[in-house]
Amino acid sequence: MSSKKDHPPRQLPAYGTIATAELTKSVPKEATVAVVPVLAGGDADATVSLPGSLVADERAAAEIVRQLEVHGATGALGEVHALVAPESATKKGLPERLVAVGLGEERLLPGGRDADEGAGDRIRRAAGEAARAVAKGATGPVVVATTLGDWGIREAVEGWILGSYTFRGERGAGGRTVVASPGTGRVQVESHVAVLTEKRPTTREKEELVRATIIAESVAFARDLVNTPANVLNPEAYANELAGQAEFFGLDSEILDETELHREGFGGVLAVGGGSERPPRVVRLSWKPRKAKRHVALVGKGITFDTGGISLKPASGMEKMISDMGGSAAAAAAAIAAARLNLPIQVTATLPLAENMPSGKATRPGDVVTHYGGITTEILNTDAEGRLVLADAIARASEDEPDFLLETATLTGAQITALGNHTAGVMGSEEFRDRVAQTGRREGERAWAMPLLEEHTEELASPIADIRNHSNSRDGGMLYAGRYLEQFVGEGIQWAHVDVAGPSWNDKGPSGYTPSRATGVPARTFIAVLEELAEES
Ligand code: BES
Ligand code: MN
Ligand code: ZN
Repeated sequence: MSSKKDHPPRQLPAYGTIATAELTKSVPKEATVAVVPVLAGGDADATVSLPGSLVADERAAAEIVRQLEVHGATGALGEVHALVAPESATKKGLPERLVAVGLGEERLLPGGRDADEGAGDRIRRAAGEAARAVAKGATGPVVVATTLGDWGIREAVEGWILGSYTFRGERGAGGRTVVASPGTGRVQVESHVAVLTEKRPTTREKEELVRATIIAESVAFARDLVNTPANVLNPEAYANELAGQAEFFGLDSEILDETELHREGFGGVLAVGGGSERPPRVVRLSWKPRKAKRHVALVGKGITFDTGGISLKPASGMEKMISDMGGSAAAAAAAIAAARLNLPIQVTATLPLAENMPSGKATRPGDVVTHYGGITTEILNTDAEGRLVLADAIARASEDEPDFLLETATLTGAQITALGNHTAGVMGSEEFRDRVAQTGRREGERAWAMPLLEEHTEELASPIADIRNHSNSRDGGMLYAGRYLEQFVGEGIQWAHVDVAGPSWNDKGPSGYTPSRATGVPARTFIAVLEELAEES
C-alpha cells in the first residue's frame, strides 16, 4: 500500500477539498478543536454520557455533560453541539473549542450487543457530521483531535474525510484560508484530523489509516468528476483525465477514439454520441498484478450529459444530468483504488463515454444499430441511451472472459420510483447480485436485490432487430433495463448490475458524510467487493 504525496496530473478547472488524517497517541499541540463523542442513554438519570479518554478528568467530564444538558443534547446520531472546554481540561492540553457529536445508543455501535450490518456506518456518519461542523465558519486552518476511532479507525477516517469534502467549483475560497497548489487549479483548505489511539499507533492501525485514506480519496475523485459541469467534462476531456490519473497510480490505460470505435464496431456508443459535436470515447483501465488469480471486469455508464437526444427530456431539472456519468466515475475510482491498495486481483474497467444530444446527426427513434459483438437493437426511445453504450461495453468486457462483471449506471428513473434516493437496485446472477447488495449495505451504500422477469425477455423482441431498447410500458422499467443488459453478458461470467440513478446525486442537502451534489456511490461498494474477491482467491 502506498499513499503518494505528490499529486497526479490535474486537468480539470476545479477539484474538491478534503481533510488530511493521521493517528496520534495524544492531542497535537496545534489542535484548534476537539471532537468529543457523546452516547445517548447511559445511566438512568443522565440523557447523555461521555465515553472514552479524551476528557480523562472526571470533573471536566461532568461539566461537559452539564453543558450538553443545558443545550438539550440527546446524543442522537449525528447531533452536534459547540461547547467550551473546562479550564482543568485545557490545562491538560485540550483545545478550548469543543464540538460534541452524538453517536446514538452504544448497543447499536460496532461491538455493541445489538450491532447490525449498519453499525460501522453509524461511526462514518457521526464523523462526517463532525467534520462539517468543525469547518463551519472557520477562516483559518482547522486541526482536530478526536477519539471517534475507538469504534473503528477505518470508519472514523473514511467518514471524516468524506464528510469534509467540499466542492466550490469555479468560485473563490469564500474567505477561508487556502493554500493554492501552483499549476494544478486545486484550492486546498487546511483541515486536518488527528484520530487518537490509546497507545502508540500499531502497524495494523497505521495500515487501516492508509487504506481508509485511499478509499476516501478515491470516492472524492469520483465526486470531482461528477461535480464537473458537462461543458468542461466532455468525453475527450474525461477520457484524458481518467487516463492521467490511472497511469499515475500504475494502471495501464487505453483510449479508443471515434475512428477506432468505428473500426471495432461500437455501434451503440457511436449512435448515442453521434448527436454531439464532441465525439465519444471508450476508456479501458487495467490493473494486472502478477499474483492475481481472479479477473474482475468493471463497467460504468459515462454519459457526460443526457438531454434525452431526439426523445428530448423536459427542461425542468435537466441540469442534474451532468451526473449521468456517475457509474463510470465510480468504476474508474474503484479500479484506481485496487491499484493503490495493491489488491492481488486483476481489474479491467471498460468505460463508454458519450454525450447524448439532439442534432441533425443524432439517432432517431426507429433506427437500428449493431453493437460490439453483433447483436442489433431497434432504438425506440433515444433517452434510453445508457443501455445502448453499456451493451457495447459489456460485450467488449466479456470478450476478456473475466470471472466477474460488475457494472453500474445511472440507468433509470424507475430505480428512483422503486427504491428512492438512498438505495441502489442490484440485478444479475443470483449469488453475485446478493453479495454485491449485502456488501453495499455494510459499507453504508444501501442496495437491494431486484428480480429479472421472464415477461421482460418476451418484451425485448423487435420486429426488425434482435432486441429493442424500450418496451412501451413504464412499469418495471428498472427490471426491463436489467434484462436488456443481460443479453450482452458472456457465458459463465458472474454478473451484477447496480442502478444508482437516485443514490449517485444528493439534492436534499448534506447529511452524515454525504455532501450536496455528487455522492460517489457506488465506488466504496465496488472497492469492498474487489477486496473481498481478492482476499478469497
Ligand atoms: N439518465 C437517465 C436516468 C436517470 C433519471 C438518472 C433520473 C438519474 C435521474 C436515463 O438515461 C433515462 O433517461 N432513462 C429513461 C429510460 C426510459 C426512456 C425507458 C427513464 O428512466 O425515464
Ligand atoms: Mn436518458
Ligand atoms: Zn441517461
